[in-house]
Amino acid sequence: MSTAETDAQIINPEMPDVPPHAPSKINLKDYQKPSFDVETVHLDIKLFEDYAQVNSTLKMVRQTIGDIVLFGESLELLSIIMNDKALTSEHYQQEDGKLTIYEAPDEVTLDIQVRICPQTNTALEGLYMAGSGDDTMFVTQCEPEGFRKITFYPDRPDVLAIFTTRLEADKRYPTLLANGNLVEAGEVADAPERHYAIWQDPTNKPSYLFACVIADLDVLTDSYTTSEGRDVLLEVYAKSADIDKCDVGMQALKDAMKWDEVNYGRAYDLDRYMIVAVSQFNMGAMENKGLNIFNTACVLSSPETTTDARSFSVKAIIAHEYFHNWTGNRITCRDWFQLCLKEGFTVYRDQSFSADQQSSAVQRIDDVATLRAHQFAEDAGPLAHPVRPESFVEINNFYTTTVYEKGAEIVRMIANTLGPDDFRKGTDEYFRRYDGQAVTVEDFLSALSITDDKIEDFIDWYRQPGTPVVSGSQTYDSAAQTLTITLNQQTRHVKGFDAPKPLPIPVATALFDKDSGAIVAEHMLLLDEATQTFVFENVASEPVVSLLRDFSAPVQLNYDYQDADLAFLLKHETNGFNRWQVTQMLVNRILLQSQGAKSSPDVYLEALAQTLPVLAADDAMLAARLLDIPSAQELASAIPQDYDPVLVKEQRDGLYQQVADKLKDQWATLYNDLPMQSYEDSAQARGIRALRNVVLDMALTANVEGAADWAQQQYDHASCMTERFGALKAMVNHQLPKANHYLTDFYKRFQANDLVIDLWFSVQAAADDVTPDVIKSLIAHTDFDWNTPNRVRSVIGAFSSQPTVLWTAEGLKMYTDVIKKLDDANPVLASRLLQVLARWNTLAEPRRQMAHEQLTDLRKNVSSKHVLESLESV
Ligand code: PHE
Ligand code: ZN
Repeated sequence: MSTAETDAQIINPEMPDVPPHAPSKINLKDYQKPSFDVETVHLDIKLFEDYAQVNSTLKMVRQTIGDIVLFGESLELLSIIMNDKALTSEHYQQEDGKLTIYEAPDEVTLDIQVRICPQTNTALEGLYMAGSGDDTMFVTQCEPEGFRKITFYPDRPDVLAIFTTRLEADKRYPTLLANGNLVEAGEVADAPERHYAIWQDPTNKPSYLFACVIADLDVLTDSYTTSEGRDVLLEVYAKSADIDKCDVGMQALKDAMKWDEVNYGRAYDLDRYMIVAVSQFNMGAMENKGLNIFNTACVLSSPETTTDARSFSVKAIIAHEYFHNWTGNRITCRDWFQLCLKEGFTVYRDQSFSADQQSSAVQRIDDVATLRAHQFAEDAGPLAHPVRPESFVEINNFYTTTVYEKGAEIVRMIANTLGPDDFRKGTDEYFRRYDGQAVTVEDFLSALSITDDKIEDFIDWYRQPGTPVVSGSQTYDSAAQTLTITLNQQTRHVKGFDAPKPLPIPVATALFDKDSGAIVAEHMLLLDEATQTFVFENVASEPVVSLLRDFSAPVQLNYDYQDADLAFLLKHETNGFNRWQVTQMLVNRILLQSQGAKSSPDVYLEALAQTLPVLAADDAMLAARLLDIPSAQELASAIPQDYDPVLVKEQRDGLYQQVADKLKDQWATLYNDLPMQSYEDSAQARGIRALRNVVLDMALTANVEGAADWAQQQYDHASCMTERFGALKAMVNHQLPKANHYLTDFYKRFQANDLVIDLWFSVQAAADDVTPDVIKSLIAHTDFDWNTPNRVRSVIGAFSSQPTVLWTAEGLKMYTDVIKKLDDANPVLASRLLQVLARWNTLAEPRRQMAHEQLTDLRKNVSSKHVLESLESV
C-alpha cells in the first residue's frame, strides 16, 4: 500500500469505485519453514531520554536453502555485521518491513544496531512508554508481531531461541525486568545516574513471548512450591498507589498453579513468575514467558473499587495467562493461522478453572452468553471466519471471539466426547509429544485422538465459518412405544469459502416423563450428517425432550417445541444452566417472531413469576441470570437479513418492561429479602449483590413506589463497588432526579482511580438516554485520553452498545470519525472498535445505506492494514 494512492483517492473523488489499496494477503497454504534457526539472542536495550538504542547478537544456523529473512518495522538501522564483516546495501535488501540477507554461510553471527523511539510509540506494540509527565514507564508488547518493532529478527512463532537481555536506564526507573532469571545488576561505569540488569531465560521461546519492563514500581511478593518441589518466587508489580489491589490476583495465581498440577499434571518450570500492571494496553493481558504484562483493569481488584464481575474476570485472566505457560509457551503455534491452538485450548482451561471456583452452572451461563452475544454475531456478518483462518492481511484482526471462544467450544466438544479419563490421556500425550515445539491444530487433534480416531473429524469445525443451525422435530408412536427425533443441520454459505458440509455435532439429550418430571433416558446424540433420525425404544408415553443440554455444541437450536414444553423444562430441568437455556429459548421465540418463531410472552412471564421467588432464596446468582434478556446485538445474530437494530432493541426493552410489570408486586419483597450486609467475598454474598442490582433495576422499570429511595440508600450505604455502581447505574439509566448529584459524588470519591473513572465514563456513555452531545462532552472532558485504550473503550465502546444512537447518520459519523482518528495512532484499537459496525450490510434500509456512506468515506481516509482489512466488505 502506498500513501500516494491514498492521497489520490482523497483528491480525486471520481476514481473508480474499486478498493483503493488491496493489502496483500498471507495464506496458510504458503507456509514454509524458515531457512535459518536462531540458537541464541543477546539483546541489549539502552533507554535514553528520547530514544532507545537496541543492539542484538543472533547466532543463526541454516535449516534449509534460502536467504536470511528478518522482519523490522519503525526501526532506524545503524549497522549490521555478519560474522565480523559490516554489511552494506549490496549484501541485503530492505523492502516492505523485510530485510533479506543474500548468500549467508550456514553458520552466522549477526550483530545488529538499531534505534527506536518508545516515547512516541502510540500503537502500544513493541517497546512503548505508558503514562505521561513524571509518571512514565516502559513496557513491551510483542504478540503477534511487535518484536520486529524492537529490532530486526525472524519474528515468527516457529523460530525458538534462548534469550539473554541486558537493560540499561536512568535510575529514575529502578525496576528493570525481563524474562527468566536475574543474573546480574549494577551501576553503569562512567554514568553514575544509570544502572543495568541482565536477565537470562533458560527456555527456548519465540520472539512474541519476549518482554521487558523499565519502570518505577512497587511489588507484592509471595511464593509457591510446585508439585515437583520447585520453590517459585511470585511477584506482582504495580504503581505504589495500586499495590494494595494486587492480592486477589496473587491468590488467583497460586490457585491456578495448583489447579494445573491437579487437572493437567502441569507444574511451573522457572524459579520466578512476574506479573506487571500497566494502564495503557490494547488487550487484557499477555503471557510472556515468566513475565506477564497485564492491563491494570485485568489485574487490580479491591472490594471498594472493583465490581464482583470484574474481580471474577481478574481471576480468570490471571489463570488464563498462567495456563498459557504450557498451552502456548512450552508448546507454541507453528504460524499465526494456528492461533486457536493456544487460545481456544487456554480459554477452555480457564473456563474450567473458573467453573471450579464458583457455581459451574453460572460459569457456563456466562460463557455461553458471551459466545452467543459476540461470536454468533461475528459469524453472522461479513467478517465471519473459520476458527483457524486460511488467510489474513493483518493477524491482529484475528484475535476474535471466533478464535478464542468458539475455539474453546471445539475443545469442550472433544473433551465431552472423550470423557475425562481419555481427554486427560490425550492432553498428556499432547504435552509429551510436542513439548518445546511449534505445532499445528492437526498435531493437537492427532494427540487427542489416541483413544478414539473419530476426534480427527473435528478438524472441520476449525475450517468452516458460520454458526450451524440445528432444527428438529419428534414423533411418538404409542403402539410401538418409540420416540423418533429427526435433526438436521444447516450452515450458511459464507462468501469466499467452500460450500458448507455437515459437522460432527454432539447433541446432549434427555427425555423427561411428562407426569413425574423425571428423566427416563439420557443420550449424547451425534449429528454428523445433514439429516438424521434417532429412535428411542421402550418409551412408555410421549416425553418432553431436552436438547443441547449444557450447550453441548456451539449451534443455534430451532426445535419444534410447544411453549408448554419449555415451561415444563424450566421447572424440571436438573441443572441451572439448562434452566437458563430454556428461558433464553423462550425469549428468542417471543422476540424473533419475524424469523418464524412463535410464542406469546404469557408462558414465559408466568413461568418466571413462579420460579423466581423460590430460586431467589435458594440460589440468588442463578435467579439473577434467569432474568437475563439477550442483548439486541445477540438477538440480531439470528436475523440473517434486513434487521433493524432499533426495532430489535425496542422489542427487547418492551419484553423487559413486561417482565418488570408482571412481577411488579414482588420486587419490594425480593429487594427487602436481600439485605445489605458488610462486605463478604463468598459465592452467596456475590449472588445476593447480583440479584439485588437486577431487582432494583426491575423495580425502577416498573415504577415501584419508593424504588428511587432504595437506589439512593444502596449507594449511600454501599459496602463495595458492586453495590455502589449498581445503584449509580440504575439511577442514571432511569434518569432519576438525583442521578447527576450521584454522578458528581462518584467522580469526586474516585477521582484518583483511573479504573473507577472508566466506570464513570461508561455508565454515562451507555445510558439508555445517551445522545451524541453527551458523547461529545465526555470526549471533551479533561480526563478523556485518546492514548489510553481503557478510557477510549469506556466511552466509545460503551456508546456503541446503544443502537438508537449508533445507527443514525450522526452516530455513524461520530463513530467512524473516531476510527479515522485512531487509524494511524493505534490501528489495533481502531480496527477492534470498528468490528461493531461489521454487520452493516445486513441492516434494513435506510440504515444500510447510511452505514455504507460513512464506511465508504472512512475507507478513503484510513491507511492501516488493520482498518482496511476490516473494511473489505464495503
Ligand atoms: N495472547 C493474549 C492472551 O490471550 C492476548 C493478546 C494478544 C495480548 C495480542 C496482546 C496482544 O492471553
Ligand atoms: Zn490467551
